Amino acid sequence: MINGNRVEKLRIGVLASGGGTNLQSIIDACAAGKIHGRIVRVLCNNPDAGALQRAEKAGLSHCCINHRDFERREDFDQAVVGQLQQDGVELVVLAGFMRIIGKAFLDAFPGRIMNIHPALLPSFPGLHVQKKALDYGARFAGCTVHFVDGGVDTGPIIVQAVVPVLDDDTEDSLSARILEQEHRIYPYAIELFAQGQLKIEGRRVKVLSQPDTPSQALINPPIFSSSLS
Ligand code: GRF
Repeated sequence: MINGNRVEKLRIGVLASGGGTNLQSIIDACAAGKIHGRIVRVLCNNPDAGALQRAEKAGLSHCCINHRDFERREDFDQAVVGQLQQDGVELVVLAGFMRIIGKAFLDAFPGRIMNIHPALLPSFPGLHVQKKALDYGARFAGCTVHFVDGGVDTGPIIVQAVVPVLDDDTEDSLSARILEQEHRIYPYAIELFAQGQLKIEGRRVKVLSQPDTPSQALINPPIFSSSLS
């Protein structure tokens, strides 16, 4: 959303299916004033999602709309959209939400749905991507916050963080290193949106009034020998 001189806090709806550590990072950032927004709805498709307990603990409005109660995905989507619209949600934040977003849902929130993915897109879309990066032998992995479009992990990229893959990494150790960065860049991306700093131009997302990006390269393994550097 582009809304330069915003006074009201951005109304955020968070959709989650699992433990909700990304939800927690957003709750904490809102509480600390790092996001000029407030979570007006936490919605889960899974009644056992830890995210529901986190919402309860934080005193946030929360509910479960179980996708298993719907025969057609479109009807599930419509129920979710109806709830978010009733709550006056302005930005939909997918935080480990394991359902595909259908066209009617996208049309209800154009340019207003974000997702986080634990890989450096466009490499490794889909599931189990930390393991895929490790098995592939990638030297870097990371995470991506992007706007959601009709594809799987294909929308315009807002922020990425890069972490090295270490020789003794396991799927768990690499996932933990990536998750730490997820908790930094998701609140950051949401705040950029809340401040009206994001402009979608085709596939690219412009960040208005952005400081110059440092141009140094990351190399892994690092070059130690001065004769090689
Ligand atoms: C995160 O790795 C996120 O990138 C992916 O699902 C995971 C959710 O973790 N989409 P949590 O529920 O936020 O802890």
